[in-house]
Amino acid sequence: MLRLYLLAGAGGLLAVGLLLFGLSHSNYVGNVGIAPAQPVPFSHKHHSGELGIDCRNCHQQVEALATAGLPPTHTCMTCHSEIWAGSPMLAPVRDSLANNEPLHWTRVNRLPDYAYFNHSIHVTKGVGCSSCHGAMNEEQLTYAAQSFKMEFCLSCHRAPENFVRPQNEIWNMQWKPPADQATVGAALVKDYHIAGPERLSDCSICHR
Ligand code: HEC
Ligand code: HEC
Ligand code: HEC
Ligand code: HEC
Ligand code: HEC
Repeated sequence: MLRLYLLAGAGGLLAVGLLLFGLSHSNYVGNVGIAPAQPVPFSHKHHSGELGIDCRNCHQQVEALATAGLPPTHTCMTCHSEIWAGSPMLAPVRDSLANNEPLHWTRVNRLPDYAYFNHSIHVTKGVGCSSCHGAMNEEQLTYAAQSFKMEFCLSCHRAPENFVRPQNEIWNMQWKPPADQATVGAALVKDYHIAGPERLSDCSICHR
């Protein structure tokens, strides 16, 4: 009887393990492609794609700091105290200003605490937003373009020449590597003084 229980227990553990493994490797956990509810249905497609507002108007620190940051309420109100000023959709924005309480946006992209990331080094060394976030200027509601598994980071850290672009393409959300990326990329890696793949795949770079 005891043996039977042990066997069933082990089988159960294995099944739970497999289930967890499957879940953690599926897109569901990362919510890829699924927009979470937000206090205001903010549209990048509308503001960036159609109105052409520069990403840096709202994500001001992205070139200088580890975090890109989310815009404070007064950034929205520079326009929305005039445009659609009475819209019910924008009531949470007006309340936020009136009560001096920040809007609580639901985070879309999030790494676990044990992984370190820094925006400024990527942006200044030729990695554009769309390489990681996809075509943000086409997103009606914000969702994660992918789940940021370690393999994704390493696929570029092992061969950055396949992905780096000239500085004037960083904000181009539709950028695709040109036919001569092999030569252009290798030259850019030199220009930007990007370290070799051994250093960039060293565990201590991302796990500090
Ligand atoms: C008018 C302001 C504004 C502009 C311009 C703007 N954003 Fe945003 N962005 C926001 C706000 C507000 C949020 C948080 C709400 C949301 O997720 O929709 C956000 C969220 C994001 C997120 C997800 C953050 C998270 O939770 O992980 C990314 C990535 C992003 N923006 C990238 C961009 C890029 C790239 C551009 C330029 C093409 C851009 N944004 C332009 C206001 C802006
Ligand atoms: C540079 C000016 C500008 C800024 C800054 C701005 N908006 Fe807008 N927003 C507009 C314009 C213009 C419209 C479109 C009005 C129309 O369609 O008639 C709009 C529309 C909207 C709408 C409703 C319509 C839609 O399709 O999205 C929402 C919601 C909204 N904005 C939220 C925000 C939030 C939240 C912020 C701050 C993170 C923000 N906006 C910052 C100019 C701006
Ligand atoms: C190399 C990949 C990569 C590139 C390039 C990149 N991001 Fe991110 N971004 C991330 C990751 C990963 C996170 C989640 C960070 C975390 O949880 O610590 C993130 C988070 C964000 C957030 C949420 C707030 C924050 O700072 O955590 C915004 C906004 C954002 N990115 C905007 C941008 C913009 C704008 C650009 C282009 C200038 C850009 N990102 C380029 C990977 C990237
Ligand atoms: C598309 C290419 C690309 C992707 C994807 C990418 N990186 Fe990077 N990363 C780079 C480049 C290029 C550098 C600059 C290296 C240098 O200066 O030598 C860099 C540098 C870094 C650094 C700083 C290294 C140092 O020397 O201190 C960290 C940390 C980092 N990346 C973490 C990440 C993490 C975590 C992810 C995944 C969420 C990621 N990167 C995804 C290209 C990429
Ligand atoms: C370029 C950045 C980067 C480098 C280099 C890197 N990691 Fe990671 N690692 C991550 C990120 C991001 C995560 C979290 C996402 C995930 O779970 O895949 C992670 C997750 C992990 C995990 C959690 C388990 C899992 O789900 O995979 C372990 C263990 C790990 N890394 C070990 C290592 C070891 C050992 C090395 C060196 C051989 C290393 N990492 C190098 C970015 C990196």
